[in-house]
Amino acid sequence: MINVALPKGRLGEKVYDMFELSGYECPSIKENSRKLIFENKEKGIRYFWVKPSDVAIYVERGAADIGVAGKDILLEYEPDVFELCDLDIGKCRMAVAAKKDFRDNPDKTLRVATKFVNIAKNYYASKCRDIDIIKLNGSIEIAPILGLSDVIVDIVETGTTLKENDLEPFETIVPISARLIANKASFRFKSNEIERISQSLDELTKARK
Ligand code: PRP
Repeated sequence: MINVALPKGRLGEKVYDMFELSGYECPSIKENSRKLIFENKEKGIRYFWVKPSDVAIYVERGAADIGVAGKDILLEYEPDVFELCDLDIGKCRMAVAAKKDFRDNPDKTLRVATKFVNIAKNYYASKCRDIDIIKLNGSIEIAPILGLSDVIVDIVETGTTLKENDLEPFETIVPISARLIANKASFRFKSNEIERISQSLDELTKARK
């Protein structure tokens, strides 16, 4: 049995559809219930819905053999897992944004509000820029408006959230997409099954490009 951690929500539904198209269907998952675990014994697959930011924790600790996590989460938490393939969905970018009239003054410490503390720290360290990190858990866009920070480091998908809050993206830090990840021990002991799944998903991804 292969245990798969799926990210709950819109991305997770797309991910499940890719597994289904690859031959790992589990029809009961489409029944609209509040159940979180679904399995197809014949196919030897068990799915469970977890919070997107928790997928890597389940996989790293072996509660799931494989899972799908955003590159943002992998860069931020650096879980000890194998990254098997880029599924080319859930695409967005990690960006620096600020008020339209913002001009950086390199003589002053830059105040950066973000959920992604490590990504922001690494990015500014690579530019040798002195920063003061303000860790927030959501509604990051408000920080520069209220003067809590000079800039934000956050995910930009369509850009609508920035626009509607009179902010502008200034720099792209890194493009983001969903990745298939595997637990390191599972990858050794269930290598045939995991490689088969990874290969099917990879082929499907390439066929869609
Ligand atoms: C993310 C991000 C932005 C928004 C960007 O939030 O923090 O607020 O999406 O998307 P857009 O460019 O298409 O407007 P998300 O909805 O993931 O939820 P969160 O507030 O929990 O981070």
